[in-house]
Amino acid sequence: MKIEKEILNSPNLDVACEKAVSYLKNLHQRYSWVGIYLLEGNMLSLKTYIGRPTPHNKIPIDKGICGAAVRENQTIIVPDVKSDPRYLACSIETQSEIVVPIRKRGKVVGEIDIDSGYPDAFKAEDRALLEKIAELLGKK
Ligand code: SME
Repeated sequence: MKIEKEILNSPNLDVACEKAVSYLKNLHQRYSWVGIYLLEGNMLSLKTYIGRPTPHNKIPIDKGICGAAVRENQTIIVPDVKSDPRYLACSIETQSEIVVPIRKRGKVVGEIDIDSGYPDAFKAEDRALLEKIAELLGKK
């Protein structure tokens, strides 16, 4: 996988995150917003993204789907954001979302967040790919 080499050969985590976001955004039309948040204390901070600007550049870990993925240390798929009370809206067009933790030595250090304008856009294959990319980012 070319992206695997690109991430592993990146000079640092910032560049690796940019490569990953660019790769994922171009991969599927249904990935309408792709971003990476890094954990700084109890706050998630948006490192890089492609898509419309979001009001949520910083998210405390007790808020949002993003915060829940950190607290639970697991991937969260929300097939219908309107029916999830945890959801923090980024764009009115978003219908579904996936958040995948990035771990270093088992501890969450950040996450990949993808929004889709389609309902129920994220399946097992999306999850497997994103967990693989997150694992590679965790090595940087
Ligand atoms: N929807 C996220 C917030 C981030 S925006 O989608 C970019 C959440 O509920 O945590």
